[in-house]
Amino acid sequence: MIIEGKAFTRSGIQHLCIKVSEDGLIEKLSKVDCRDDIKYSFLDKGLVILPAMIDIHVHMRDFKLSYKEDFYTGSAAAAAGGVGVIADMPNTVPRVNSIKILRMRDETASRKSIVDYGLYYGVPDNEDDVNGYEEYAVGLKIYPEDLHRREVLDKILQYNSLKEILTVYHPEDPSLIGDAHPLKAELKAAYDIARGSPEDLKPHLTHISSGSTYRIVSRYGRGYTVDTCPHYLFLYRDCYNSRYYNVTPPLRSRWVMLDLFKTFLDGYIKIISTDHAPHTYEEKLDGINGFPGLETALPLLLTLFNKGLIRLSDVISLYSRNPARLLGIDHLYGSIDEGMYASLTIVDLFSEYKVDSSGFYSKAKHSPFDGWRVFGRVIATFIRGKPVYMDNEILIKKGIGLNIKRIIREFPYIQDK
Ligand code: DOR
Ligand code: ZN
Repeated sequence: MIIEGKAFTRSGIQHLCIKVSEDGLIEKLSKVDCRDDIKYSFLDKGLVILPAMIDIHVHMRDFKLSYKEDFYTGSAAAAAGGVGVIADMPNTVPRVNSIKILRMRDETASRKSIVDYGLYYGVPDNEDDVNGYEEYAVGLKIYPEDLHRREVLDKILQYNSLKEILTVYHPEDPSLIGDAHPLKAELKAAYDIARGSPEDLKPHLTHISSGSTYRIVSRYGRGYTVDTCPHYLFLYRDCYNSRYYNVTPPLRSRWVMLDLFKTFLDGYIKIISTDHAPHTYEEKLDGINGFPGLETALPLLLTLFNKGLIRLSDVISLYSRNPARLLGIDHLYGSIDEGMYASLTIVDLFSEYKVDSSGFYSKAKHSPFDGWRVFGRVIATFIRGKPVYMDNEILIKKGIGLNIKRIIREFPYIQDK
């Protein structure tokens, strides 16, 4: 099977025939022998084939919170947003913090997800649930309240540093959070994590809401990574007085937002995630925290590209290549190359439209970006060569997504590729 179009590769944008093997890998990239076998052709003006995006922080809910989202609707939202790999957070009901529930989570995800997925593990109640969790989970997620559980936390941190398992922090100091979640709670947590982590642990701080958080981590820690989310880059608190805009950490002042935006434009923040946190609209008006984000992140980044603020290569680094590195899957995802998966998204780079959340695939049909004029539309998404989304339609009815830990076992990382 061949996908033809202008593809974004390491050597720039080229008109290519992407030959995909049975198992969804890119067998050959060629400029000439496109003749036979073309199945999908994307040659209209403005269309570009990109590696599919990778979102390292989403909440697929499911289990007892399926009314908010489930793996099918959440992964459909991912596909519609040009995202081919999602990494799901463990604050579910029940929580994913025992091997037994982790397995259940994997079973649910593999049955329903139409994109590939990673699973995070929560800090377990029981020390017996530490060994071996990395068979199914791509990393550990640490919430502020977990910091009080020193014994089991220390054990799993030692384990993570020994086994080089990704450790993702929600950085807010629980003793400073109060009702307001002030910025100092985030800064103090960033400082403590940077200063106090075991030697070989390379923690990742997710959804940072200020440039100062980045500066603290880079000043006091070594090899640490951070991500931020579109809502911290584009929204600030003084502008919105409705409880709809509640999110954790909260939207900050205009100055903090502008400083974060500058830190981002200067290239210091290397990963974007959405923290896709679906809730019903009624729950939102009651003040619950979080927004859906999977269907707006790539268009918002492409809007920055269209405004000349970042390059197309930055969009791919921020939301595909660097996330792939963090998850340890950059030998298979995050760029278009022979031997990598044909997990691709086709975008119309210049198409201009208004965000309309009523058309979302997520169960959460609302957005803080509703009505915003954006440039850059997702036309199609392929997962390992299979078209799952095309021209506003989801083409797959049941799960075809694979756990990336299973994929890595089959195709281990080879250091000097
Ligand atoms: O706003 C948020 N929503 N922040 C979090 O940390 C959790 C998330 C959720 O699960 O709804
Ligand atoms: Zn989250």
